[in-house]
Amino acid sequence: MSSRAPIAVLAAALAFSGCTGSDAPGTTAPAATAGTSTTVGTTEPPPVTSTIPQGVHAGEGLGDTLFPKAGNEGYDVQSVDLELDFTEVFETGRFSGVVTLRIDPLVALDSFVIDAGDLSLSDVSVDDESAAFATDSSQVRIDPVPVLVPGTVSVVRVVYSGSVPTDRAFRPGTGGIVRDESLVFSIGEPEGSTTWMPGNDHPTDKAPYAIAVTVPTGMEAAAGGLLVSTLTEGPSTTFFFEHRLPVATYLVPFAVGELTRVDRSAEGYAWRDYLGPGVAEAAVLGRQDEMIRYFEQFLGPYPFEANGALVVDRDFWGALETQTLSTYETNAVRGFVVAHEIAHQWVGNSVSVADWSDIWLNEGFATYLQWMWVDHDGGVSLDEAVAEAHARMRSTGPGWGPGEPPAADMFNRMVYDGGALTLHALRAEIGDESFFEVLERWVTDFAFSSASTADLVALAEEVSGSGLGDLFDDWLFGDLPDLP
Ligand code: TRP
Ligand code: ZN
Repeated sequence: MSSRAPIAVLAAALAFSGCTGSDAPGTTAPAATAGTSTTVGTTEPPPVTSTIPQGVHAGEGLGDTLFPKAGNEGYDVQSVDLELDFTEVFETGRFSGVVTLRIDPLVALDSFVIDAGDLSLSDVSVDDESAAFATDSSQVRIDPVPVLVPGTVSVVRVVYSGSVPTDRAFRPGTGGIVRDESLVFSIGEPEGSTTWMPGNDHPTDKAPYAIAVTVPTGMEAAAGGLLVSTLTEGPSTTFFFEHRLPVATYLVPFAVGELTRVDRSAEGYAWRDYLGPGVAEAAVLGRQDEMIRYFEQFLGPYPFEANGALVVDRDFWGALETQTLSTYETNAVRGFVVAHEIAHQWVGNSVSVADWSDIWLNEGFATYLQWMWVDHDGGVSLDEAVAEAHARMRSTGPGWGPGEPPAADMFNRMVYDGGALTLHALRAEIGDESFFEVLERWVTDFAFSSASTADLVALAEEVSGSGLGDLFDDWLFGDLPDLP
């Protein structure tokens, strides 16, 4: 059975969850306790025992529709500093790290939670004071003393270690770090990043990152943003990277091992590709800048400081648009996939989903832009791509619409094809001029933040001046309508 959630209801639900770019405050946390205590058996006024503000025990999870426990309430991460030691990983399968999260409390916090997967934490400090912490499955509750207050950024430092399995089975929707004898890499979407870095694991809490990775000298560490320096000290080499623009946890690119770095040049951003063990150079990688320039005509300037491809000859189901350095398996190094991942840098990475149930916004836009590139490049025309996708979904669709994926099947082809068809139906309804204005406003108005389906509907209605709730309802929920 498919639930047809009207857009109005969806909009209200998303507004309630507060997911338009910053975290919801601790709505489920217990009320603050009074800052005074009463002495029983005396008529004296109760003495004020403390002027220290009392806070809440902020809850775990942001109440995401598909992953209710992802992310955490009560704070917003301002920046992330990672120091990672992967010098032993190919001998022991283990690594260690220190993550420093600068957090802005959204309410006074007595304690708060971070997501840490299976990582082993050995020390936590908050503002240079050692802090108590307790692990409950993948969540770690940290008890800062004194209370953290809004308006004052606190520095949370976590010392940890972890192991890298050799046998992770990837499919879309599962991720994490994995290794073999010459390569470690990680796939984070939607919930894999906590296999190697603790944090606030939800796309609404994005932050700039500084990442230092130490590896055996002779090996390479691949990460995104700018490669600012390299330091070799005898048997170990450290690579320093900076993502200066905010990144969602699931989009942080990462690999270590026998990688070949290919530095190329482009106007306005740093271009680095990395080829994993056994990966040959491919001509299509040389076309990434051309694709960026093509998309810039519709989306405005490329949003980030870097772009490139990290290609690994390992199976992990295709490609992932890791920010500024998309990750590809060798089979996925094909024009349409590369165009898709580059389009994601605007739609998905700069503008991220407010809730994982909005995943069609990422995949529908990237698929539509990919179709536009392929058409432009002399391949299948956009109209043919639309007709093929429609026919495919009519015959093999899952029986639900792109706006209502179940968590276990959130990367079903319906999310891609049905999402792109929804945009095509919007284009047919409001005309090319309005449609391309919506596209450009989408990536401008919500740049470096998170946005929801309701935000898109509101924007399209504003630009076109017409009511579009029914159109989005028809295409996003329930049975696939006829093509316009
Ligand atoms: N977002 C990816 C894309 O470009 C799909 C994806 C999601 C994925 N999770 C993954 C790919 C895990 C590989 C592994 O469409
Ligand atoms: Zn995609």
